[in-house]
Amino acid sequence: MKIVAMVGSNRQDSYNMKLTRFLQKRYTNKVEIEILPIDQLPFYNQDEEFNPPTIVKEIKDKILLSDGILIATPEYNGSISGMLKNALDWFSRVDQVMVKKPVMIVGASMGAMGTIRAQMQLRQILNAPGIGALTLPGNEVFIGSIQNKMDEQGNLTDEPTIEFVDSVIDNFVDWTEKTKVFS
Ligand code: FNR
Repeated sequence: MKIVAMVGSNRQDSYNMKLTRFLQKRYTNKVEIEILPIDQLPFYNQDEEFNPPTIVKEIKDKILLSDGILIATPEYNGSISGMLKNALDWFSRVDQVMVKKPVMIVGASMGAMGTIRAQMQLRQILNAPGIGALTLPGNEVFIGSIQNKMDEQGNLTDEPTIEFVDSVIDNFVDWTEKTKVFS
């Protein structure tokens, strides 16, 4: 099963990027995860959407060919980052490559709430007509106090968190199989 991942943080030591890389390694026997370079997308511009820069076309093609999407979101001022929203805006237009794609959401933050507000908004955005993703219901992966749950190498070390994420990945694989009837 081919999954593409979008990470909403572009900083070098991003916990959300480390988390995504951890998932990529841990579940190689279940899913193949490719991280999309959404940090390289230019600002969305409606004047360019029918003839966008090459990077936009390349990433959209990868989404089209994928079985599902993993989104790892930080929380910026109670919402998703501008970078992630920018990417979703590109993907929502013209060929609308996320329509009916299964999506799993995770998020990590240093605070106690673990990106709850960002994820609530992200679910709403993914439900917009131009995006129309099949977001996995429930299975809310809010990882707060991430600095205490990850080692220097970026591996999750908190057993309850790992067990929960294991179960969510299984649910997502199942969801992705079941939602194939819609495509
Ligand atoms: C934050 N941070 C943050 N945390 C949170 O729990 N709620 C919030 O609303 C915000 N707002 C916010 C705004 C901005 C502009 C920054 C830079 C940071 C802290 C944020 O969760 C923390 O920096 C994470 O480590 C960001 O994720 P990455 O970059 O580690 O993946």
